[in-house]
Amino acid sequence: MITIKTPATSANVGPGFDTLGLAVSLFNTFDVEESKEDRLENVEDRFNNKDNLFLKAFHAAADYLHLDTHVHAIFHTGIPVSRGLGSSASMITGGILACNALSNKKLTDQEILQLAGTLEGHPDNAAPCIFGGLTASIKEGDTFITHPLEIDPDWKFCVYIPDFEVSTQKARAILPDSYPRAVAAGNGARLLYMSEGLRTGDMKLVRLGAKDAIHEPYRKTLITGFDEVKEIVENDTGGILLISGSGSTCISISRKELSKEAEETLHAKFPGWQIHKVTVTTGALV
Ligand code: HSE
Repeated sequence: MITIKTPATSANVGPGFDTLGLAVSLFNTFDVEESKEDRLENVEDRFNNKDNLFLKAFHAAADYLHLDTHVHAIFHTGIPVSRGLGSSASMITGGILACNALSNKKLTDQEILQLAGTLEGHPDNAAPCIFGGLTASIKEGDTFITHPLEIDPDWKFCVYIPDFEVSTQKARAILPDSYPRAVAAGNGARLLYMSEGLRTGDMKLVRLGAKDAIHEPYRKTLITGFDEVKEIVENDTGGILLISGSGSTCISISRKELSKEAEETLHAKFPGWQIHKVTVTTGALV
């Protein structure tokens, strides 16, 4: 069997709604081989059907390559579902790469991004899942474009994963359809501060950049405990806490690791939440 490993991703990174994304060190792994019919193993019942995103992506890639093929895949999942850590992008990327690997790698990187972005609708999880690191992505017409951004290696990242899901659909539906010009201009400026701060290791710039006005004020209402977790984490680390993607997970960015004491306080107050220190990682591997 061939093994495919796809990372979790944290989209938006504050002000970069539908644009910035970061690959972080939680993974889904898929062992795959060609098969007479589609067969998924080690998959929750609710996802073990033809609408499975891995399977849909496998067949989208197969159709694109004019192949009539099927897959047997064994899933080993380490990325929680509907928590804002790009589990959908990880499944989609896994399915496309499975088809690519089983057909002797016919797809270019751009074709993989295009297929994944089209299936997901926005590229900010798919791009870092495929290419790793921090990426800035846009959709121009129907074409997805991504560009890698530099990131200082000394940042500390930690994810705080609640015990409840937030559906991306719902988290997108609560956002306004349009924004005043001042909000758009302010967010654009903050995005520059965020990317420059991440590149240079400047906490002050990252803190200024973090004040997003496009999604965080609306979505934090879906994450019970957000303000309290933010206060504890930011006081302890001197860093910032953001919603990861559309939530429910939150991600902190700081120069200093979260202390053991703060972690214990969080576990006591939010016993269902998981806390993982993560690092920036490379993209999907075959
Ligand atoms: N940019 C997307 C959103 C990411 O915030 O809705 C979803 O994971």
